[in-house]
Amino acid sequence: MLKSRITEMLNIDYPIIQGGMMWLATAELAAAVSNAGGFGIIAALNSGSGKGVKEEIRKCKDLTDKPFGVNVSMLPDLATVERIEEYFDAICEEGVAAVETAGRNPEPYLPKLKEAGIKVIHKVPAVRHAQRAEEIGVDAVALVGFECAGHPGMDDVTTSILVQKAARYLSIPVIAGGGIFDAKGFMAALALGAEGVLMGTRFLLTRECWAHQQVKERLLQATELDTMIIERSINNAARVIKNDAAVCALEMEQRGATLEELLPVISGQLGLKAFKDGDSDAGVISCGQVVGLIDDLKSVKEVIQEVVEGAQTIYRRLGEMGIGKKR
Ligand SMILES: Cc1cc2nc3c(=O)[nH]c(=O)nc-3n(C[C@H](O)[C@H](O)[C@H](O)COP(=O)(O)O)c2cc1C
Repeated sequence: MLKSRITEMLNIDYPIIQGGMMWLATAELAAAVSNAGGFGIIAALNSGSGKGVKEEIRKCKDLTDKPFGVNVSMLPDLATVERIEEYFDAICEEGVAAVETAGRNPEPYLPKLKEAGIKVIHKVPAVRHAQRAEEIGVDAVALVGFECAGHPGMDDVTTSILVQKAARYLSIPVIAGGGIFDAKGFMAALALGAEGVLMGTRFLLTRECWAHQQVKERLLQATELDTMIIERSINNAARVIKNDAAVCALEMEQRGATLEELLPVISGQLGLKAFKDGDSDAGVISCGQVVGLIDDLKSVKEVIQEVVEGAQTIYRRLGEMGIGKKR
């Protein structure tokens, strides 16, 4: 067991969190992460309704007796306000250890989450948003930097800068996300002041993740130069794998396309099709630069064990360098 305010808050063995992933963060994946001592998270958006979220939570409870959470992404293009409220109601009625909120200020939902005893981890790409989140009373913040899969914000600031600055100015625990896949990133994050890490791309590339093998193969071949940012022109920057859909979207943006015009290319349904059929050019696929460091498919348990055991190895190496010895 490793101890931090995050492990204590979530009642888990290791401060390793699987970030919400649209379509992929299922009960099966979340349960595998929680069973391995980390904190698994289901994506509410996958279910499409409050009823669906409840069913997915129940399924996860059947697969693990360990704590897990639900991600609610509140970007306006992903779900209506009514649907988001439905998700939060379902989560509060069913009960989970924590929610990972993202995309918008979660303030309106905090009273009902607190009443239900559910912790709130708000995921943000900027320190100013993290400070605001602390002010409104979230329990922890996850800072995701420029290299992360999904939405790195519009400021282009890296994880190492965000985490260090957030840890300097915030009192609530800080979680580091973006560019982390192993013990080295984990230890670096702790050194910067984080009390836990959050990983997305690494958990996509596990055996338990249901994405089609051909998509996984493509990502395993990818280098750190094979991701790109799209949707910057509509103030919704997203890091995705460089594929036909993403290149097409960027070209359209350069010609001044509107969100409505972009939707047929960037729609989540096409991403789902890519994951299902294995046609990795069919839609946009969120992917972090860390993909350039991942070249094997592991089980979730192996990923978590590698982080935990690798951390001890690094600690020993630092000891051999004289770090931690009395002078
Ligand atoms: C395929 C995929 C889908 C994602 N979908 C979501 C999502 O729906 N909501 C969200 O908040 N984050 C989403 N993310 C972002 C992750 O939760 C996490 O913040 C990010 O992957 C961390 O960066 P990393 O990939 O470098 O580890 C997604 C990431 C991936 C790889």
